[in-house]
Amino acid sequence: MLFSVLKANNKRMHQKTNACGSLHILCHEDMPGSPKSLAAMSVSGDTRANRTDLPVWLADGFAFLYDFIMSRSVFPRKLGADIQTHYQTLAQELSGFHGRYILELGSGTGSAVHFLPNDNHYTGSDISPGLLKRAVKRFMAAGFPHPEFFVVSADDLPFEEGTYDLCLCILSLNFIGKVEEVLREVHRILLAGGVFIGCVPVPEKNLRGSNIRGTLHSQTELEKISRQSGFNFEQIPCENGALLYFRAQKKH
Ligand SMILES: C[S@@+](CC[C@H](N)C(=O)[O-])C[C@H]1O[C@@H](n2cnc3c(N)ncnc32)[C@H](O)[C@@H]1O
Repeated sequence: MLFSVLKANNKRMHQKTNACGSLHILCHEDMPGSPKSLAAMSVSGDTRANRTDLPVWLADGFAFLYDFIMSRSVFPRKLGADIQTHYQTLAQELSGFHGRYILELGSGTGSAVHFLPNDNHYTGSDISPGLLKRAVKRFMAAGFPHPEFFVVSADDLPFEEGTYDLCLCILSLNFIGKVEEVLREVHRILLAGGVFIGCVPVPEKNLRGSNIRGTLHSQTELEKISRQSGFNFEQIPCENGALLYFRAQKKH
């Protein structure tokens, strides 16, 4: 079974983290040359020490250009959206979260520093080590206490059930695909009453008919899958191009 070592040791690993942010690269246990006891490995911001058998995301090799492309091309052209409105909407939604345990799926280069209060316990995750390496630096510079980052896929999370108060997935759900599996995992790792906040392009808001990458689900489909996965679902009011903002709360 994947990640069982880390699942068993997850709490201990959190306690062992020191003053700097850590990037954990995970391997499948049965990978050649990967002892089971090293299924989880902390490399403290250094991605060279190991490799994963996860697919490398298309932006991994262009991590240094990622933020430029997002702000100059993806937001204004593809999504028909305003990046400042995006940050403001999420900042307002998250303004009440302080001292909480927060997991982000598809963290990328760490754009959440723009809208998440820095007094939270942040764990980032993504399949791209190149993007996460930039996120480590950004979260450190933003003053988050002991941020941690894991190179894992959002549909198979190495965290114990009931660990997090809040899960974020911003502009990533369409790339991850497998929405049912992601929501099953989010439901598992959230505490009762925990909240999942997402932002994702939806086809009915894509009025420009842009070629948006990944698998797009309509709001109705997302709402249905969320309810079937044990969440309440609410749209967060915001008109911003092709983007839907939503809040899904885990039922008690
Ligand atoms: C458009 S980027 C969004 C990144 C960031 N949240 C932001 O707002 O800038 C999509 C992200 O999803 C990540 N991703 C793709 N497939 C994934 C998967 N299966 N599990 C976790 N992350 C994934 C990519 O590596 C990339 O960082």
